[in-house]
Amino acid sequence: MVLSPPIIRVYAVQASNRPVLMTLKDKKSLKVLGIESSCDETGLAVYDTEAGLLSHVLHSQVSQHEAYGGVVPEIASRDHIRKWVALTRKCLADANATIDQLDAVAYTAGPGLAGALFTGAVAGRSLAWALGKPAIGVHHMEAHLLAPLLDDDAPQMPFVCLLVSGGHTQLMRVDAVGQYRLLGDTLDDAAGEAFDKTAKLLGLGYPGGPRLAMAAEKGDEAKFPFARPMTNRPGLDFSFSGLKTAAMTAFLAVDRDPSTVADIAAGFEAAVVDTLIIKCLRALKSEGISQLVVAGGVASNKRLRTDLTKAVQDMGGKLTCPRLEFCTDNGAMIAYAGAIRLAAGESSTTEITVRPRWPLTELVAPAVS
Ligand code: KG4
Ligand code: ZN
Repeated sequence: MVLSPPIIRVYAVQASNRPVLMTLKDKKSLKVLGIESSCDETGLAVYDTEAGLLSHVLHSQVSQHEAYGGVVPEIASRDHIRKWVALTRKCLADANATIDQLDAVAYTAGPGLAGALFTGAVAGRSLAWALGKPAIGVHHMEAHLLAPLLDDDAPQMPFVCLLVSGGHTQLMRVDAVGQYRLLGDTLDDAAGEAFDKTAKLLGLGYPGGPRLAMAAEKGDEAKFPFARPMTNRPGLDFSFSGLKTAAMTAFLAVDRDPSTVADIAAGFEAAVVDTLIIKCLRALKSEGISQLVVAGGVASNKRLRTDLTKAVQDMGGKLTCPRLEFCTDNGAMIAYAGAIRLAAGESSTTEITVRPRWPLTELVAPAVS
């Protein structure tokens, strides 16, 4: 693997044994650099606990994975390494901040692709060490879940959160930062994964979710009325792999012209969205909560946002979604989630660890003094 020279320089900046484990609890405001590298997007951001989000930049690797029809982990890792120094410089310049003004560095420590996670963790941890500042490994799904709090119209806790990404479909009860109770989970494919796999089967390519959603806009969902899986039995769990098979079976039985593909895509999207809505409403009712949050890449799906907003309003509740750029992977949510925990006095040791699999419910609330 070819390492770009800048990353070597970062490692070598200062060899002294700096006090990196100081606490930031008593600092009035914190400026935190966030690094996201869990999959196919390199995201950087500077978040200031007083002034808010100062900058965020994103590099998408879509063009590099497209030819392979999906994310190639090794390509993802190499590209993160290539991009992060230039992106850090741009992010700091956009924030009108120098590297010395950073109080800490937050990086995604999991869940995600091991190699990709490791590039960001090594970069973030090493940079913090070189600066003599604390660092924190952030849980990617906690960052997704807290992303709506970056916006002015932030949801009040407790809320129910639908976390829908490429690897997760979960309903969580959120009472406070770090107080998460799992209400429902997918038994097989995550919603985003089902979108991606179905898009591939339909010949729509990668990235599957947005491509399938775009095709669905031109289709007629009534032509392929797929089942809404697991909605006719109690409980809050999901299963999307049967839906993916149903879409493939339909595809193999018809003429594969673009308009029929659009109809199948529309039928599939409608089934996923309806299923998510049914379970969200059920979760709100069973928890006696009126505030719903939807976060993660699939939260950028237009139909889900529109239909869920209406469904939640109709039952007297409120839906909050992060702005579109903070639904899919980004550095802002990492800087923000990291800042919350750093401000409470948390930080990671100098050992660089990543957790490709890491249940959100293992997190604990930051200590309150
Ligand atoms: O949160 P995210 O960017 O990365 C993970 O943490 O997984 O989510 C990516 C997932 C992918 O499966 C992608 O296809 C899906 O979100 N996605 C969408 C849309 N945009 C992204 N799915 C449906 N409709 C969309 N518009
Ligand atoms: Zn994500």
